[in-house]
This record gives sequence, C-alpha cells and structure tokens, in this order.
Amino acid sequence: MQRIALFASGSGSNAGKIADHFAASVEVEISLVLTNNPKAGVIDRARGGFGTGQIHAPVLMFDRTTFYQTNRIVELLQKQEIDLIVLAGFMWLIPAQLVRAFPNRIVNIHPALLPKFGGKGMYGHFVHEAVVAAGETESGITIHYVNEQYDEGAVLFQATCPVVSTDSPDDVARKVQLLEHAHYPRVVEEVLNQMKNVQ
Ligand code: GAR
Repeated sequence: MQRIALFASGSGSNAGKIADHFAASVEVEISLVLTNNPKAGVIDRARGGFGTGQIHAPVLMFDRTTFYQTNRIVELLQKQEIDLIVLAGFMWLIPAQLVRAFPNRIVNIHPALLPKFGGKGMYGHFVHEAVVAAGETESGITIHYVNEQYDEGAVLFQATCPVVSTDSPDDVARKVQLLEHAHYPRVVEEVLNQMKNVQ
C-alpha cells in the first residue's frame, strides 16, 4: 500500500479529484489530509468522503508555530509511513526540515506555466490576475517537485490553455482548473509508480 498525505488550504477541489481517482485502488490510500486553514472547504470534503463519499480521510489542522517551529508534522508523517505528500492548493512555504525528510516525495500543482508567475504571493486568483494583466496568450498548469523555495522544484508536467484578450481572470481560472482536474491525479499516480520501481 502506498500512502498519500494531502495538504490543502482552500476549497480542495484538486484534493477531491485525487481522492476520487484512488477511491477504488487497493494499492494507494489517502491516509491523511492536512490543512492550516480551519475554514478550508477541503475539511468538509474529506469528512464527507470526498466526491464518491467513500474516502473518509482523517483531517489534521495545524498552525504556523507547529509547522515552522516544531518537528511535529514531520514526525507524524513519518510515523504514518507516508510515501508521498501532495500539495493541492496549499499556500505556505514547505519548511526545510520537511523537504529534507521527504526528498523527491513532495509534489505541488501551480496554476500557471512556471517559471512565469511563480514565487511568494503568486497563488490562486493572484496568478490569473497577473496573467491577464501581462497580456499573456496562454496559461496552464505546472506540476513539480517541491524544494525549499516557492515554485522552484523540478518540473514533472505542464499543460497549456489559450488566453484570449477578452478573458477575465475568472475565465482563465476556469480553463486552468479543467487542466488541473484532468491531469493532477494521473501525474500523482505516475509518480507513485516510479517510486515503486525504484524501491
Ligand atoms: C489551484 O488552482 C492550485 O493550482 C492553486 O490553488 C488552487 C487550489 O484550488 N495553488 C497555488 O496557487 C499554489 N501556489 P482547489 O482548492 O480547488 O484545489
């Protein structure tokens, strides 16, 4: 059994797609959902069993002090024998001790074509606003490994969508979200398969 920990700060639609993707799997389990945001939609989704209603992952809420000034999250993830950490709309920088404890075992999705429109403060809707303001003709998604800098780890996968001059940030967000939902679960599965092959 390969065990995933999902980190999410927002609505959790990507977390939900990933959980649903593995709902029938006997090889992959969503073992834990972690969030820093007590109002995150992902909490209700996880407690409700995600989209299929079948995946009731325990939810752990943590605060900034616990995350950055203690080793408690790392210890918990190690104790639970987590194989892969999947960031799905998680907005805090991953602390060095967590990156070191899970080398090449943390993946993130970013709602733009990195290295453009990445870095601190570039998340969620801010990204789509910046894309439209810059007059870009395309945007997309980047799925990448996580290192100690925002949005800088090795790229695993990118997909693009057109941006036309009449598109609002909301329009771009919708196109990007379709790509996220279509590709993130599959790329996570590929990463897990690669990990199996090297173990
Ligand atoms: C997604 O668009 C994801 O790419 C983005 O947050 C959204 C979460 O949506 N992540 C970042 O901006 C990270 N820098 P969701 O809660 O519906 O999955």
